[in-house]
Amino acid sequence: MHNYLRISLTERCNLRCFYCMPKEGVELAPKAHLLSDDEVIRLAEMFVKQGVTKIRLTGGEPTVRKGVVELVGRLKNLRQYGLCSIGMTSNGIALHRMLPRLVENGLTHLNLSLDTLDPFKFEIMTRRRGHDAVLKTLDIALSSNLQSVKLNAVIIKDLNDTEVPDFVELTKDKDISVRFIEFMPFTGNKWDKARMVSSSVLLTNLQKRYPTIIKATDELNDTARSYRIPGYTGSFGFISSMSDHFCSSCNRLRLTADGQIKVCLFDAKEISLRDLLRSGTSDNALLQTIGFAVRGKKEKHAGMEDIDVVTNRPMILIGG
Ligand code: GTP
Ligand code: 5AD
Ligand code: SF4
Repeated sequence: MHNYLRISLTERCNLRCFYCMPKEGVELAPKAHLLSDDEVIRLAEMFVKQGVTKIRLTGGEPTVRKGVVELVGRLKNLRQYGLCSIGMTSNGIALHRMLPRLVENGLTHLNLSLDTLDPFKFEIMTRRRGHDAVLKTLDIALSSNLQSVKLNAVIIKDLNDTEVPDFVELTKDKDISVRFIEFMPFTGNKWDKARMVSSSVLLTNLQKRYPTIIKATDELNDTARSYRIPGYTGSFGFISSMSDHFCSSCNRLRLTADGQIKVCLFDAKEISLRDLLRSGTSDNALLQTIGFAVRGKKEKHAGMEDIDVVTNRPMILIGG
């Protein structure tokens, strides 16, 4: 059952993470090609009425979209049709200012991208400054009424891999779930197998340091396999798209900022719902197209051998 919709709200970002996009950025679609707020809401409502219970807002960086706070407020109205959770994945740079209003308007889950606890490495990885702003966002998030706060760290060999235990220590007193993510290949992100660290290596090293590590329960359809250290408040997990993909339990659909339905992170095939919307297509015909796209979803796309980097979009235009 595909009950999880990831909606990308913008192709823009206030960082330039090297694992996400090339230094010079990517070509952006003209504004008129992007879904308007009304179009996002109309599509979201259709998906929710078809059984989507979880929406996650992504980007680019979702907080750079004008009106995002109000948009979340409008999505909240979809609770009446069965929407249970509204999440956001953000880099936290501009989020601290608007987080209280977002939570007030219905945001329930936040995943914050933070790859390093070292401000100098932050600049290397993101090609921008702002480490302190992200830490501030984390503090505000932890004292807000969110149902969960997760931290995403993409692990790169010889860059931030030595920081894994420091991230685990964050879970001692903080109610967060840190996820260590395997570096995945996308157009223009200079993926290099030699710079990818597989989750099993990280876990083995952590087990040496923390012999009491125990498996934590994973939620159905989770991307991460989670663990805990007894006595610690939070947990940590591994997102192993490359070494141990989780395609068989995938419940996700994606809507790109320019209105394409994308049934898999790694599937370059997309269908424009925007063009159908703008040509006056009825809800029923739209639903048929969505059904057609979903039925075309393959059993598996991720994993070392199968990823098609050439025709797929760069990560910045997908939103993870
Ligand atoms: P939850 O909604 O909390 O489960 O978050 P999530 O882990 O699905 O999403 P998030 O945006 O925090 O992304 C964390 C990492 O998981 C990123 O590297 C994403 O690219 C990756 N990811 C998200 N969805 C998928 C997916 O469907 N397949 C694969 N292979 N990776 C994914
Ligand atoms: N490999 C793995 N994760 C990535 N992300 C961005 N690019 C990559 C990549 N190449 C992560 C971001 C963010 C999430 C949406 O996707 O760090 O947390
Ligand atoms: Fe921006 Fe996230 Fe991409 Fe970094 S990974 S450039 S924060 S969209």
